[in-house]
Amino acid sequence: MAARRTSKKSGIAPGYLHGYSPQEQERLYQQARFLEHSVFDQIDFSKQSKILEVGCGVGAQTEILLERFPQLQISGVDSSAKQIQKAKQRLKKEIKNGQVDFEVADALKLPFKDDTFDGAFVCWFLEHVQTPVEILAEVRRALKPAGVIYCSEVLNATFYVHPYSPATLQYWFAFNDHQWMLKGDPFVGAKLANYLLASGFQNVETNVVTHHYDNRAPKKRAQFIEYWSSLLLSGAPGLLKAEKVTDEIVEEMTRELDRLKEDPNAVIFYSWVQAKAQAF
Ligand SMILES: C[S@@+](CC[C@H](N)C(=O)[O-])C[C@H]1O[C@@H](n2cnc3c(N)ncnc32)[C@H](O)[C@@H]1O
Repeated sequence: MAARRTSKKSGIAPGYLHGYSPQEQERLYQQARFLEHSVFDQIDFSKQSKILEVGCGVGAQTEILLERFPQLQISGVDSSAKQIQKAKQRLKKEIKNGQVDFEVADALKLPFKDDTFDGAFVCWFLEHVQTPVEILAEVRRALKPAGVIYCSEVLNATFYVHPYSPATLQYWFAFNDHQWMLKGDPFVGAKLANYLLASGFQNVETNVVTHHYDNRAPKKRAQFIEYWSSLLLSGAPGLLKAEKVTDEIVEEMTRELDRLKEDPNAVIFYSWVQAKAQAF
């Protein structure tokens, strides 16, 4: 069994790929709604009352959690004061009602006692940290025995698009390489079960969620391409600043994505991983 206590260094990676601009904060709300069904269809917090949301960002998932499970009392933490400020504005009423509280905290040093929560929710978060096992062990410390955790995380090696789009692929490589250099992990989804086991969780289950859109569902395909374009472009300011891509690559990628939207035979494919486990 892994130790209940973790060493107390910082879990915050040296950079954050997406940044904290108002546009990026708005994108997180849109992303959460766009992916709501795929993220929440397998999540059941109906038997929980007090849950922890780690890396809660602007509260985009918190809002959905409360709509789906109104009995929940949620504590959200994020290392960014800007994200927490936005979350507090957005969920003012719910904070007043005592349904939610938000706090700036590093996930590696959670400001909660052992055995506080009966559930934890982690979404699009572990890709941004440099010590996932230590952070998961810290979440486990704050969970009661048999508390359930759900993690939804990216697996960026799975992205495929047709027709062949070289600028998009070049940009995508730079996007993932940059995240890796910032000590994040754009492939963390594949390792979720290993990390949960290493941090002392048990009964680990994983589910690969695939978005595969082609001529069977042209409307959904168009919507997914639109969403995917906004995700790709969210990294552009950081990638340009780090000189990982040029303006020409970004412009060419934008043209390719526009062509893709119009192509009657386009295919877009992407998978990510959702894990469920229990703390003991
Ligand atoms: C992509 S956002 C996801 C936000 C939210 N889970 C969602 O799905 O909308 C990742 C968040 O993780 C936060 N974060 C990164 N490292 C952290 C750490 N060590 N402790 C707490 N939050 C962290 C970032 O500030 C950012 O708000």
